[in-house]
Amino acid sequence: MDNTKRKVRVKVPASTANLGPGFDTLGMALDLYAWIEMSIVEETRITLYGDQMNGVPTDKSNLVYEVAQMVFKRAGVSHPELEIAMYSDIPLTRGLGSSASAIVGALAAANGVIGSPLSDDELFQMATELEQHPDNVGASLFGGLVVAFWDGTRAEHIRVEPNPQLEVLVAIPHFQLSTEKARGVLPRQQSLENAVFNVGHSSVLVAALCTGRLDMIARAMKDALHQPYRAPLVPGLAKILAEATNHGALGVALSGAGPTMLALVDRSSTRKAELEQFMLGTLRQEGIEATLMWLNPDKPGVQVETLTAEDERCTLLEIVKGGVNA
Ligand code: HSE
Repeated sequence: MDNTKRKVRVKVPASTANLGPGFDTLGMALDLYAWIEMSIVEETRITLYGDQMNGVPTDKSNLVYEVAQMVFKRAGVSHPELEIAMYSDIPLTRGLGSSASAIVGALAAANGVIGSPLSDDELFQMATELEQHPDNVGASLFGGLVVAFWDGTRAEHIRVEPNPQLEVLVAIPHFQLSTEKARGVLPRQQSLENAVFNVGHSSVLVAALCTGRLDMIARAMKDALHQPYRAPLVPGLAKILAEATNHGALGVALSGAGPTMLALVDRSSTRKAELEQFMLGTLRQEGIEATLMWLNPDKPGVQVETLTAEDERCTLLEIVKGGVNA
C-alpha cells in the first residue's frame, strides 16, 4: 500500500516500573491505555481528546510528532506533514508511564504508517534511548512483565507472562511529581550493602513472579536504592510500604518515580476493601487525596491496526468511548 494512503490506530498500555527493587530494570504493562491515530497528509493537524491531554502541544513540538520524525529519519523516508489524533486515560506525571506510552505509541504508529520497516527491537532501542531507561518503554512495547537492562548502548529484555492470579491496586495521589525531581533526590553513589540488597531482592522477586511463588512477593518486594530517598516526596508512602502487606497486599511499591503507589494483590483475596481503606486512609491522614484503581497486567503490549475505509468512519473518541477494541 502507498504510505500516503495508510492510516493506523495504536493502542498502548500504561506501565509500572521498578516493582520495588528492580530500579530501572523491571516493568509491568497495565490495562490502562492511550490511543494514537496517525496518517500522512498535506498539512500537519494534531487533535487531542480527553482531560489527560491538557497542556500537551498541538504543533510540531508535540512529542508524538517529534518521535514519528525520528522513525522516518531512521527508515530513510521524509514525511513532515502528519495528521495525529490522541486520547489517553493514563494520568500524566504520576508514575504510570505516560511519557513511555506516548513514545512507544508514536514509534509504533509512525513505523506502521510507513509499512513497518523497523523491527520491535529497533523500536525498543530507540524508546530506551529516549527514556534513558528500558523499564516503562519495554512494558508498553512488549506487554506483560519485562525484565530489562540498558548499558547505554543496547537494551536487552526478557518478557515474562504475568501470573493470572495477580491483580493490581494503584493509589494515584492528586498531585504531580516529575520523574526529573524524583530522580534528582537519589544519591549518585550507593553502598555495596544496598547494591547487594537490591540485586538479591530483585532476583528473588523475578524468580517468584516466574514460578508463581506469590507467598514470596512480600519479602522480595523491598528496595534500598530509591524508595527511601523518594519517601519524603510522597507523604504516606513510608507507612504504606511498611504496612500494606498487613492489610491484604502481596507486595507494595512506589510505581516508577511516583507519586502513585502500587499493591500487588491475589485476585481471589477477600481483603480488597480493607486494603483500599488502609491506602486511602493513610494518605488522607497526610492530607493527600488519591484515586484508587483496580488494574490488571496488560498482556499484548502495543497494538497497531491499519484502518480500513470502514474503520475510518468512526472517530478515535467514538472508538475509545464505545469500548471498541483497537
Ligand atoms: N525507573 C524509573 C525511575 C521510572 O524510577 O526513575 C520512572 O521513569
